Amino acid sequence: CGPASALLAAELSMPSADGGVLSAFVGKKEDVVRSGRALAVVHGREVVVIHHAGAFYAMDRLCYHAGGPLYLGDIEDVEGRQCIVCPWHKYRITLAEGEGLYQAVDPRDPQRRASWGSKGPKQRTHAVHEESGDLFVTLSDLSLRRESDYYQSEEYQQVMRNAKK
Ligand code: FES
Repeated sequence: CGPASALLAAELSMPSADGGVLSAFVGKKEDVVRSGRALAVVHGREVVVIHHAGAFYAMDRLCYHAGGPLYLGDIEDVEGRQCIVCPWHKYRITLAEGEGLYQAVDPRDPQRRASWGSKGPKQRTHAVHEESGDLFVTLSDLSLRRESDYYQSEEYQQVMRNAKK
């Protein structure tokens, strides 16, 4: 089964120790390892949980660029950094930091191999931790804006509802 079928819509909230952090159970570790990724809703936020090369990552489900299905993207190594590649326009986004990478071409020397640069954090990432075989996602600090936030907003939901009318 593919990533899209691994939807874990049920949200089992877990109160945090400090009372302010938003965490939720997102699935059994063994299930996510087996499928490679899972979708979950964490306090109303749609995230994808990814297992890659022995590590777990979590980030917003839709791509910061134009709302593409990032959760379906392939994983690619870009100069030693593990990235998810958005299926729509092939943007590379680092799994660990949500950085948007780009390939710069020197117009004075177009034959030279393009080098990779960073646009900085664009896609919101979240922390994943395991407890006794259960995986939990803790949302990152929502006061620091990331471009992917728009695709989680009520404004975007309204745009989508209007488009269906
Ligand atoms: S929507 Fe993801 S690269 Fe454009």
